[in-house]
Amino acid sequence: MKSCFAFSVSLSFLLLILLSVYPQRSESAPLYLWHYCPNATLFAINSTYQSNLNALLSSLSSSAAAAAATNNAGGFANATAGQNPPDKAYGLFLCRGDVSATTCSDCVTTGKKDILQRCPNQRVSAIWYEECLLRYSNQSIFSVVEEVPALLLRNITGNITDPAKLVQVFGNTIKDVAWRASGKTFAIATADVTTLERLYTMAQCTPDLTPWDCNTCLRSVIPLLPEGHVGGMMCTPSCIVRFALHLFYNASVVPGPLPPPVTSAELAPVPPPHEGIWEM
Ligand SMILES: *[C@@H]1O[C@H](CO)[C@@H](O)[C@H](O)[C@H]1NC(C)=O
Ligand SMILES: *[C@@H]1O[C@H](CO)[C@@H](O)[C@H](O)[C@H]1NC(C)=O
Ligand SMILES: *[C@@H]1O[C@H](CO)[C@@H](O)[C@H](O)[C@H]1NC(C)=O
Ligand SMILES: *[C@@H]1O[C@H](CO)[C@@H](O)[C@H](O)[C@H]1NC(C)=O
Ligand SMILES: *[C@@H]1O[C@H](CO)[C@@H](O)[C@H](O)[C@H]1NC(C)=O
Ligand SMILES: *[C@@H]1O[C@H](CO)[C@@H](O)[C@H](O)[C@H]1NC(C)=O
Ligand SMILES: *[C@@H]1O[C@H](CO)[C@@H](O)[C@H](O)[C@H]1NC(C)=O
Repeated sequence: MKSCFAFSVSLSFLLLILLSVYPQRSESAPLYLWHYCPNATLFAINSTYQSNLNALLSSLSSSAAAAAATNNAGGFANATAGQNPPDKAYGLFLCRGDVSATTCSDCVTTGKKDILQRCPNQRVSAIWYEECLLRYSNQSIFSVVEEVPALLLRNITGNITDPAKLVQVFGNTIKDVAWRASGKTFAIATADVTTLERLYTMAQCTPDLTPWDCNTCLRSVIPLLPEGHVGGMMCTPSCIVRFALHLFYNASVVPGPLPPPVTSAELAPVPPPHEGIWEM
């Protein structure tokens, strides 16, 4: 059974939206998770903001397509359209660190159409897929950490052999992956729970954030992860963290070049690597 309940949680105010089942994957399309439009900030049809927004979304999807065409890493872009507030539009996309540039481009192209349908006339919107995140606003969103709204997904199927051991392994591994992602924006860590079970974790931030802000975002959502389950995920505008007892990412992606080192002034020291950890 593939079903798993999903609900979204806002960290700053109590708003609970219940989605009934985990979305089903259809072969080629990006897997839609949710969208968010605060509704407070509508623009008029045919307004300057609308044309700026269209230009912004085209620019973002062109960046993703260009990365795919040249076989570049891609994975993230930010852009603006228009000269001055209140009509200037700011946007970005982030693709999951293990997806190809082609998958990334497909996701951004889908998101570009989808977001306008799901959030018509909204100045501020965000949409999450399993493969990417796309968001825009009439205010600058670059280098600003946003932990709300947050979507929590839980996988309520399956059984855990040793729940106490899982909690212990989970606590160490998830902290570890968060530290690693803070310096590199994307990280994966695995650890054995029992001889039969292995925990897989992944954490990612938008690369415009400082390591400090990335870590702040991850640390604010990690306590909300449903650790008593076989899988769970938190999605926010700035960071994403996921774990499962099955391999859910592409483990053959070649690690990229190391980013510049993070200074100890920016971050507490990363714990020493343990077996099964690898990073990108
Ligand atoms: C925004 O308005 C739409 C349509 O009225 C509604 O379906 C949606 O839930 C609202 N979103 C929020 C965040 O209130
Ligand atoms: C918006 O512009 C289109 C094309 O110029 C026009 O057909 C349409 O009537 C306009 N809509 C509004 C609400 O102004
Ligand atoms: C992208 O964001 C960075 C800050 O993180 C900013 O310096 C840069 O100008 C932005 N790019 C565009 C195209 O706006
Ligand atoms: C964004 O839109 C909202 C609602 O229209 C407005 O209150 C806010 O001032 C706008 N921000 C900018 C930077 O124009
Ligand atoms: C939920 O967990 C089961 C068992 O680990 C797994 O087979 C299934 O793919 C998971 N579902 C999702 C949506 O991750
Ligand atoms: C989980 O355990 C229960 C009770 O032991 C059992 O009935 C069920 O079939 C198990 N489910 C799976 C997916 O192994
Ligand atoms: C996983 O990544 C490798 C290396 O980028 C790629 O060749 C392979 O097609 C990917 N597999 C899947 C299932 O996406």
